[in-house]
Amino acid sequence: MFDPDAFIRDKVEELKGQIEGMAVIACSGGVDSTVAAVLVSRAIGERLFAVHVDTGYLRKGEAKKVGKMLTEMKVNHLVVDTSDEFFAALKGVSEPERKRMIIGERFIRVFEREAKKIGAKYLVQGTIAPDWIESGGGLRDVIKSHHNVGALPRDMSLTLVEPLRDLYKDEVRKVGKALGIPIYDQQPFPGPGLAVRILGEPTREAAEVVREACAIAEEEIELASAKGEMDLPWQYFAVLLPVKTVGVQGDVRAYGYTVGIRAVHSIDGMTAAYSQMPHAVLDRISRRITNTMKDKVNRIVYDITSKPPGTIEWE
Ligand code: XMP
Repeated sequence: MFDPDAFIRDKVEELKGQIEGMAVIACSGGVDSTVAAVLVSRAIGERLFAVHVDTGYLRKGEAKKVGKMLTEMKVNHLVVDTSDEFFAALKGVSEPERKRMIIGERFIRVFEREAKKIGAKYLVQGTIAPDWIESGGGLRDVIKSHHNVGALPRDMSLTLVEPLRDLYKDEVRKVGKALGIPIYDQQPFPGPGLAVRILGEPTREAAEVVREACAIAEEEIELASAKGEMDLPWQYFAVLLPVKTVGVQGDVRAYGYTVGIRAVHSIDGMTAAYSQMPHAVLDRISRRITNTMKDKVNRIVYDITSKPPGTIEWE
């Protein structure tokens, strides 16, 4: 039986001996990196510097929320807006693995830049077991390169520290709860962010559409679950498809994009079953998305694929 308090105690001691001087952490604000940040800051205090990178592919209001949470958790941090850099790097790129590689590399360069400013020698990452297992890990085929593993550039100058490497998601949540992190049970969000929820080129405009669609899907599903209409799925979001279909807006022909809604139940993300959510909830999501983005989106579909054969994210 996994004991989060014992894990925290042992890991904090181990980290004290492992890190000399300054370290930086890529804190996305997700459960994994936040748990890693708080854990390492318990070990080395102000010598840890968390960098939250606004890539342009974050969820609605996320950068502000993460900054506030890190302040409350007393983690030394900085929020940097690098969205122009990321949109430029992904111009014309639509192949999922290339997207992941480019994002991973850009991330590391941003950290190297920030680390240099403070003279850090270590890069802390919130990598967990499924990340490296699914990125190959010597045991299996590469299913997708999780950006914090497969895409690390070979010439990286920082030493990597991965305190959660052997844990599964449910164990990370237990550690988060024990550390008093408010978002310990928040749904997962992929490292490359909304870029892998935009099929095709992840432009600034596409990011705005999928950001709004994700916000609406999250809000409606959380509301429905709070009202007891359905159980809260393990993960739920929207994806933007590069497919235009014909629709009708008032009396006029429309030609707009398609948004896919995904909601799954899972324990650790390794396998998942699609959520059999009520049609009334899907109906509200569909109406709200098409009404909010009338000129852009005119069709909503629901993904009824489990994992396997699908993965949870579409890329
Ligand atoms: P898939 O799509 O492979 O996802 O079934 C399993 C879980 O992992 C999340 N995911 C990622 N997490 N970096 C991450 O930290 C990534 O590159 C990444 N890609 C997928 C996904 O959201 C799901 O919870």
